[in-house]
Amino acid sequence: MRTFYIETFGCQMNAHDSEKVIGTLVSEGYAQVENPEAADLVLYNTCSIRDKAEQKVFHRLQQFKKEHGRGKVFGVLGCVAQQEGERIFERAPHVSLVAGSASYSKLPQMLVQLEGGNRHVTGLSLDTGEAFETPYTRRDNPHRAYITIIEGCDKSCAYCVVPFTRGPERSRTSESVLKEARELASQGYREVQLLGQNVNSYRDPSPAGWDFARLLRAMGEVPGIRRVRFTTSHPRDFVKDIVDAIDENPVLCNHVHLPVQSGSTRLLDRMQRLYTRDDYMRRIDWMKKARRNISITTDIIVGFPGETEADFEETLSLLDEVQYDSLFGFKYSRRPNTSALAMEDHLPEEEKSRRLAIVQEKQRMIQIRRNSELVGTVEEAFVEGYNHATGQWIGRTTQNRTLNFIHPVHAGPQDGETLAGGYWNVRITRAGPNSLAGEAVN
Ligand code: 5AD
Ligand code: SF4
Repeated sequence: MRTFYIETFGCQMNAHDSEKVIGTLVSEGYAQVENPEAADLVLYNTCSIRDKAEQKVFHRLQQFKKEHGRGKVFGVLGCVAQQEGERIFERAPHVSLVAGSASYSKLPQMLVQLEGGNRHVTGLSLDTGEAFETPYTRRDNPHRAYITIIEGCDKSCAYCVVPFTRGPERSRTSESVLKEARELASQGYREVQLLGQNVNSYRDPSPAGWDFARLLRAMGEVPGIRRVRFTTSHPRDFVKDIVDAIDENPVLCNHVHLPVQSGSTRLLDRMQRLYTRDDYMRRIDWMKKARRNISITTDIIVGFPGETEADFEETLSLLDEVQYDSLFGFKYSRRPNTSALAMEDHLPEEEKSRRLAIVQEKQRMIQIRRNSELVGTVEEAFVEGYNHATGQWIGRTTQNRTLNFIHPVHAGPQDGETLAGGYWNVRITRAGPNSLAGEAVN
């Protein structure tokens, strides 16, 4: 067993977990291959946030059922692994490894067991006191790096599986986080993204005892790092000091993803979100009053059990009031173990679809208008690559908007020079609902 293939589903935490898993496997002498056919060990790092995400892995496993017996070993990692546990062995008997993210520090031992022929290897304990740290992370992107600052979640939102799949909160020490950032800067990374299910509840376990805003300020001072992003925030733990930190230092990106889920206080209460619409709007107000122009994005769930037409209207009026720059909308999906399962008044699928379409259309109009207001202004773009189809460099602004552009001198990588990894000032000439386009001015 010497080669492995891994496919990753889900959020950025999962993408980054895969980078750590890949690094660990490579350090154990395995080589990564690009397709499952060529691999001895096939891994799926899974997501169970909504039912659709969960179904994907079982489809994949189904596709490869016949491979069983040809010497391939299959493993399910991540949130579905944690949630379904040993039931996966019953549902997909060709799977030999089931491990949740809280067990990745034990991967080397699990690999030894697999190599020894054990066909029921599990890593399902959630009682780890620490975040997974490894010196072997294999980062995908050469310019922008993820850094985990906190794992797990201590909230209990009525719809959410994450507390069950990722376990209780554990923060890394500020010293360890900063050391990683300095190492990344010395390797040439210019942009870092701090990750956690709820970064706002970060609490340094060392005597320094820093909170998130303190850590953010220190990250903004790491020599060589030009942009610091973070995700995800929880309104309950989002304090004014975070806005002040962003205001003080342009290295800290002026973008906050602040999931609201619903505009109705009655529904927020049913969801156990621990804030009211007014509490949320106060946080929006801090950001709107900041000196810097902070871009605000959100997540919305439509069709949560008991959502009336009036509750839904409140979500729509919240969108009007906040004027988000971007929004991820979801139809409520029943998840195992969650308290919402037992609630009454689940909505029909068609009604959820109808409400989602309304949310998305309203938001589309808001984005068209907001983006068009940017035409004529100059924004700094961090170059992520080149789109051969459109002949444009692919850039991203500090507000996390996609800004594709042409360059008067550097037409494309065919010149032998890539702009990727660099920063350019771009005059915005066109705006669509989801991206901007322009021309480099320096
Ligand atoms: N159904 C629908 N959407 C969900 N989310 C989380 N759990 C569910 C669920 N059961 C959404 C929330 C969260 C985002 C990551 O996924 O909006 O912020
Ligand atoms: Fe999916 Fe949530 Fe797990 Fe991320 S933490 S992989 S979004 S279930």
